[in-house]
Formats: sequence, structure tokens, C-alpha cells
Amino acid sequence: MAKVLNFPKGFLWGSSTSSYQVEGGIENCDWSKKYPAGRACDHYNRYEKDFDLIKKLNQNAHRFSIEWSRIEPEEGVFDEKEIEHYRKVLLALKERKIKSVVTLWHWTNPSWLAEKGGWANKEVIFYFKRYTETIVEELGDLVDFWVTLNEPMNHVIMGYFLGKFPPQKRNIFLILKVIKNLVLSHKVAYQVIHKKYPNGKVSISKIVNYYEPGRSWFLKERIITSIAHYFSNDYFLLKIKNHLDYIGFSYYFHYRITLLPFLNKKKKVSDVGWEIYPEGIYHVLKYLAKFKKPIYILENGLADAEDKNRKEFVTDHLIWVKKAIKEEVDVRGYFYWSLMDNFEWRKGFNPRFGLVEINYNTLERKIRPSAYYFAETCKNNRLVI
Ligand code: FCB
Repeated sequence: MAKVLNFPKGFLWGSSTSSYQVEGGIENCDWSKKYPAGRACDHYNRYEKDFDLIKKLNQNAHRFSIEWSRIEPEEGVFDEKEIEHYRKVLLALKERKIKSVVTLWHWTNPSWLAEKGGWANKEVIFYFKRYTETIVEELGDLVDFWVTLNEPMNHVIMGYFLGKFPPQKRNIFLILKVIKNLVLSHKVAYQVIHKKYPNGKVSISKIVNYYEPGRSWFLKERIITSIAHYFSNDYFLLKIKNHLDYIGFSYYFHYRITLLPFLNKKKKVSDVGWEIYPEGIYHVLKYLAKFKKPIYILENGLADAEDKNRKEFVTDHLIWVKKAIKEEVDVRGYFYWSLMDNFEWRKGFNPRFGLVEINYNTLERKIRPSAYYFAETCKNNRLVI
């Protein structure tokens, strides 16, 4: 007999995107030259049709980001036309009764800011404040949820530790500066939003990984696991915990910390080699419960060009989410990454994360079978297995 898992009333069901990955035509940011996304999915011009797809898939919420380099192409110069564009985007969601989750910064920086040292320059706090004020003033009436920063620690690690993302640095002193500036910028943006909208719902989207020791009886592995968890998950959230109305996070990774590499076998992986480990989302939720705030899963998904594992992936993650809810973790929404295939940063267009398949020659959209399956859960607010 089928098992039915009900989700709490008012649960948000959605999918996420980010400007650089889907819009196309972004030529003026720190990614544009080295990793051009070209016309991407041309979502900038096709957002209405794309939102019709969201509706068709019964999702009641959508997360997307505003492109700072469009809004402020030159330092202190704000582009009215681009502000108007995002107003139309937000209105298009509203017309369709889709709640908006707006990310202010999803990794891309205007070129002028990058030239000034980006997040390593403490002036960024002022710049981000001014940009946030503009958005709050011009668009705030249409925003349901705010995400100030997307995965800030990822920017730090990829951009300043591994040197893989712009600005491709490896410098411990810069790391400390960047973290400090990200923390302060979030706090300032939080205040800016709350000044105008005291009931505004503001958070970040924190990448939260699940770390476990390879051998739980082995003290050394347990200690290393705790350290990894502390720096990668806890550190940033603790710094901003008094400036969060909810906890937004993404879950993709599970790490078995062990001195014996053979214990570290990944059982099942996605097209990009990331381990599929649904149970981890449960442990992450149990950990996040300590902040005593409503929790929204703002990204979870996999690269799966043939759509072989997506249905099972979503189902299995939701089973673990439901277990956490049953144990009184206050989870209020689940956003799949991504609504559509898109530009996956350094990996380009190869990885296929979308519920909707994109034909990059014709830009045609095609809903994948797993998306119809997920749509049933979104429609009925329950998972049937
Ligand atoms: C997350 C990013 C998102 C996307 C997914 C696959 O870390 O926030 O933009 O690239 O990974």
C-alpha cells in the first residue's frame, strides 16, 4: 500500500535559479570575461514563459537573484531600466501567485567592484548597503523573502583559498578580511531591510554539509569531523545569528572524515561526481534546529542529464526532511536546484540540474518526467511513496 507523507500547511514548494546562470547577456561582472555565460537560457527575455512553467509544475514559490552589475553598472550609477525589469519579474510572479525569494548577491560582482578588490575591500560594506537600499526602496513592496548572500563561505573558499573562482586568489589574510566584510554586509543589509519592512524575512543561503567520522569510535576522526563542521557550517551562522529571521540553506555534500581513504567510498554519484546522500539532509536539519528559527531548504538537487535518478533523489531527500519535521524541526519550504538547466559556473553548460531541460541551440524548454512527479507533491502538499 502507498505511504502518504503530509507536509505542514503553507509549506513552500519551489525551485531556484541565479541571474548569471540563467539570464544571459550579463557582460559586466567579474565572471563575464573568463567564464562567459553568453545568452545562457535567455531567461532575461523569457521569464514570463518560464514562470508559466513554474505554475504548470504547481510550485507556489520561486527563488531567483537580482544581478548587481545590471542594477549598478558603474559605481554609484543606478540603471532605472534594469530596476524596472526586475519589477516586472516580481509582478509576473505575483500575478501567478508565486511567492518570491530574492537573492541580492549570488556570487557575481560588478566589474567596477571587482577592480576595487571586491569583498576584500572594506568599502564593499558601504557599496552593498547602498545597492540594498536601492532594491528595498524600489522593489521591496513585492518581495516575500530576502536572501542577502548566497553561500558566502563558498565564495571565500573557491575565490580566496582554492583560487578557482574569481578573483582566483590564495591568501589567508584576504580570507579573514573577506569573511569579516561578508558578515558585516549581511548585518547592514538586514538592518536596511528591517528599517523599511520591520516584518521582512531576511536570511542568507548557507551551504551546509554533513560531516561524519569514518569510524565513530575513533577519537581522532571525531575531532577532525567536529573541526570541519565548525568552520564550514557553524562559524558563519554563529556570527550572524542575531540577524536572521529564518535559516536558509543548501544541501549538496556529505563527507566521511577518515584517515583510511578506502572507508570513503561514495556509493552513488550524480553526473558531476557528487555523492548522492539523502540521509545527510536530515542530520543537517537536526543541527540547524538549534538556531530556533523557521528553516527553508533553498537549494537541493543533482546533475542528471538523463533524468535517471532525479525522481528518486527528490523522494529520498523529502523522506528524510519529513522525518526531521516529525521530530519537530520547523522546516517550511523546499526549493529544488534548479528550475532549468543552466550555466554551472566553471563547469559550463554540461551539468544538467534542471527540472526543465534546455536545448541550448534552440533555447526550447522541455519539462522532464521527474518534474511532473515532483509537481504532484507540490500540488497536494504531500509525498506519496
Ligand atoms: C550551489 C550554487 C548554485 C549552483 C549549485 C549547483 O552551490 O549556489 O548556484 O551552482 O550549487
